[in-house]
Formats: sequence, C-alpha cells, structure tokens
Amino acid sequence: MKEKLEMIRAAVLEELKGASAKTELENVRVKYLGKKGELTQILRGMGKLSNEERPIVGKLANEVRENIEELITKASDTLKSKAKEMKLKSEIIDISMPGKKQTIGKRHPLDLTLEKVNEIFLSMGFVIEEGPEVETDYYNFEALNIPKNHPARGEQDTFYINDSILLRTQTSPIQIRTMENQKPPIKMIAPGKVYRSDAADATHSPIFYQIEGLIVDKGITFADLKGTLEMFTHKMFGDKMETKFRPHHFPFTEPSAEMDATCFVCKGEGCKVCSGSGWIELLGCGMVHPQVLRNCGIDPEVYSGFAFGFGLDRITMLKYGIDDIRALYESDMKFLKQF
Ligand code: DAH
Repeated sequence: MKEKLEMIRAAVLEELKGASAKTELENVRVKYLGKKGELTQILRGMGKLSNEERPIVGKLANEVRENIEELITKASDTLKSKAKEMKLKSEIIDISMPGKKQTIGKRHPLDLTLEKVNEIFLSMGFVIEEGPEVETDYYNFEALNIPKNHPARGEQDTFYINDSILLRTQTSPIQIRTMENQKPPIKMIAPGKVYRSDAADATHSPIFYQIEGLIVDKGITFADLKGTLEMFTHKMFGDKMETKFRPHHFPFTEPSAEMDATCFVCKGEGCKVCSGSGWIELLGCGMVHPQVLRNCGIDPEVYSGFAFGFGLDRITMLKYGIDDIRALYESDMKFLKQF
C-alpha cells in the first residue's frame, strides 16, 4: 500500500510537469483526487486494513493527498504567472516607434471666400440674415413673382418634398422673409446652401452656395445698385477691376441685369478663364419688382430697392483657379491643404 501511494505521488509529479493548461491540471486532480480517483479509491479501501496498518497508511495517504493538492496549486500558480508574463510581453509598447501623424484640418476655400464677402458687406453696413434650406413653394417661387408654369422654374431643377415643400433653389426667398419681418430701411445679405437636381459635373453640383443681397429704402435707385456692386468688386478683387452691366431678365427684379467684371486672370486681355472675352460674369441683380414689394406689404410708391445674388462657389473657383466644382465637396485633403 505504501509503495502504491509513493507511486501515485511520483506519477502526479510527472504528469504535472508536462501540464501546460488549466484543463490539464484539472484532469490530474480528477484522475487522483476525484470521486473515482486513484487516491480516493485507496482511502475508501482503508476499512479493509488491519488496526495497526490503518493509522500508518491513513497518515501517509493524507500526506500524499495534501501533497498532490499543493503540487496542483503550485502548478496552477506557475501557469498563471507564465500567462501574465506572456501577456505583458505581447502588450509591450515600443516607444521608439514613429507615431501616427494627426492631420489637422484647414479652413475650406468656400469658407475663406465667404468670410471675405461677409467682411466687405458688413463694412458697408449690411447685416446678415438667414432662412431655412427646406422652403415652401411660396417663398422660393410664388412670392418672387415666379408662378406655377413660369419658365424660370424649368431653369431651376427643383428637389420637391411634396407639392408645396422643396429644397430652396436660391437664396432669394430670404428677401421675402426679411421684408415680411422687417420694416425698411433694410440692408441685408444672406449667404446659404441651395439645392438643384443637377447631375454633378465640372460646373454643376446638386448643392452649392449663394449669397443674396437686398436694400430697400426710400429713394433707392439703379445708381445705388451700381455703386454698391462696383465697390464690392473692387474690395473683393482689386481696385483696377471694371464692372459692366448687361440687361437680363429675372422675374423678381425690374429692370434686371447681369454684372461682369474684368477678368482678374488676364486683366481684360482675354484668356482661357474668360473664354477670350476679357470679362467674367459675376452676378445677377436688379431693382426689386414692385409686385414683390407688394407681396411683402411694402408700398412700391413709397419704397424702392435693389437685389443681387451670386454663386459663392463660382467666385471661389475664379479666385483660386479651381476648374472643377466637385473638388469643393469631395473633402480630399490633398486638395484642401493648398488653401
Ligand atoms: N436667384 C437668382 C438665381 O439663382 C440670382 C439672382 C438674380 C438673385 C438677381 C437676385 C437678383 O437677388 O436680383 O439665379
């Protein structure tokens, strides 16, 4: 019996040496100390021993059991610390490795242009107004003298949400909202995003930016319009720029015009940017149509005004020599970093 116990102890020691996982330790424990374990069997068989033998074998068997338990605990501790060591090794931080470079954003070219435009008009006493991007048909068209079936609607491919709600195609509805809410004198600009259901190409984007301008007061004339827009052009592009007004048609202004400025690339000589003409079309403008004033409860016999509107994208592209509007909406850092 004694030998058997010693053999068990030796076998356990041997098996634990080779154990490399917690489950293997558990297997050893079950094999020897479990209900049907080898040592358990011996302890169960103690009854058959003689009175002299029983205490001696019993003592030894208990020693062996304690011993085996100790061995298993030790082996388990060793496994745990080995695992910890491996984990620490694998998680080691190599402080000599080069760090990940953080790319810091820059101001967007549209934002830079808008800031300059705002600054110029604020210095001339304009205030900045805002309006919703989701507009009603009334503000975007009707009140601006563009009734249903008017050809001007066809030029502005509209994203309709339902019959009477749409994404604004122009910033002009902010003229109406401002005149409804304020009494003249009014002197405002309204920058904002506008939407048109155009396929994107080098010169079209379904989203772009416009800036609207409006002055309403007693005695406002076309001379005020010309003087204001000429001053803006000089401040924006330089004193040498000349402006030229061509007759045009907009439903909400009468008379209406388009304003060209000297091409700032060739200074009027004629180049690729101005298609050889020496002029660049900058904006639409005109005297506020009497019906539009009336729609807003302003008496056209007492008050007059002028309005203008231009594309911020177009001006930005001209200013920085960008030849594809899509570049302004693609968030490509290689492009944006240049400004
Ligand atoms: N809303 C016009 C457009 O999107 C631009 C415009 C033209 C605005 C003349 C005006 C204006 O205020 O007077 O084409």
